[in-house]
Amino acid sequence: MASANTGLASKLTSFSKRNFLSSSDLSRDQIYALFELAKQLKTGNRRIDLGNRVLGLIFKKASTRTRVSFQVAMARLGGQTIDLNPQITQLGRGEPIKDTARVLSRYCDVLAIRTFSQKELEEYAEWSTIPVINALTDLEHPCQALADYLTIQEKLGGLQGVKLSYIGDGNNVANSLMVCGAMLGVNVTICSPKGFEPDSQIVEKAKSLSELGSKISISNDPSKAVKGAQVIYTDVWASMGQEEEHLKRKEIFEKYKVDQKLIGLADEELIILHCLPAHRGEEITEDALESQRSFVFDQAENRLHVQQALLSVQLGGL
Ligand code: CP
Ligand code: NVA
Repeated sequence: MASANTGLASKLTSFSKRNFLSSSDLSRDQIYALFELAKQLKTGNRRIDLGNRVLGLIFKKASTRTRVSFQVAMARLGGQTIDLNPQITQLGRGEPIKDTARVLSRYCDVLAIRTFSQKELEEYAEWSTIPVINALTDLEHPCQALADYLTIQEKLGGLQGVKLSYIGDGNNVANSLMVCGAMLGVNVTICSPKGFEPDSQIVEKAKSLSELGSKISISNDPSKAVKGAQVIYTDVWASMGQEEEHLKRKEIFEKYKVDQKLIGLADEELIILHCLPAHRGEEITEDALESQRSFVFDQAENRLHVQQALLSVQLGGL
């Protein structure tokens, strides 16, 4: 175990004190090493005590999984979390990010930020002297993608050559699945209605990062997109901040529902994933979400293990 741990440390220590703003901030080797560390933490084979370090959470959007899994991860590492809700700090009264970030860097050891624009997240990172983690922006949800690929690796035994078909909105979750999947050798198809495909710059970025023969493709046809898929993934049709478009999107996305008919067209070994929260009866039917092929709660659990591993690395705990 000691030499295995040394091997992990040698791949991961260069990520100490680094920001995690996009899936592409980690290399393929680092992601695989992070998964090994997450599995050690999950099984109890490894304990890491960071000694009373402090994570600051700045969340401008609602959250159950991300917020709680970060809080629990930090507690398990012997640290604490402070809730820096913009409504109760001077942020809500317009204190600039460049001042807030420099002040918080004097109190906290790491920040996890959930906000709308990636630019805002990048501004925090620019002014902070401590690592900043993307806890979801409109552009990316990289912690989610780590948990998703860890779950797929656990369930299917590997990632290279796996076909993942994401059916739904070309949103933050789809973007991180593409970028992270490309680096891990996963063939990712994003299938969305016309006009709701992922941003072309992100598609190009994913293609440019593609390793181990990974193919990234975009489709508008769910039946074709799920052919041969070992993973069907979906997410809400209207993300946080798009609530006003919900009714309009329900009509546009109707053919992009994950239901038994669509599942029947995929691989026999299929697993179904959803980042949650789910809108049953919209992007996924109740029976698909609750079926034996669905591993959404294992996936949600893995948020904790992978983020505990990430924090351990960023805070120099290896
Ligand atoms: N999947 C996810 O990020 O869930 P929360 O919005 O509850 O954090
Ligand atoms: N795409 C969703 C993900 C929620 C975890 C949103 O941004 O609201």
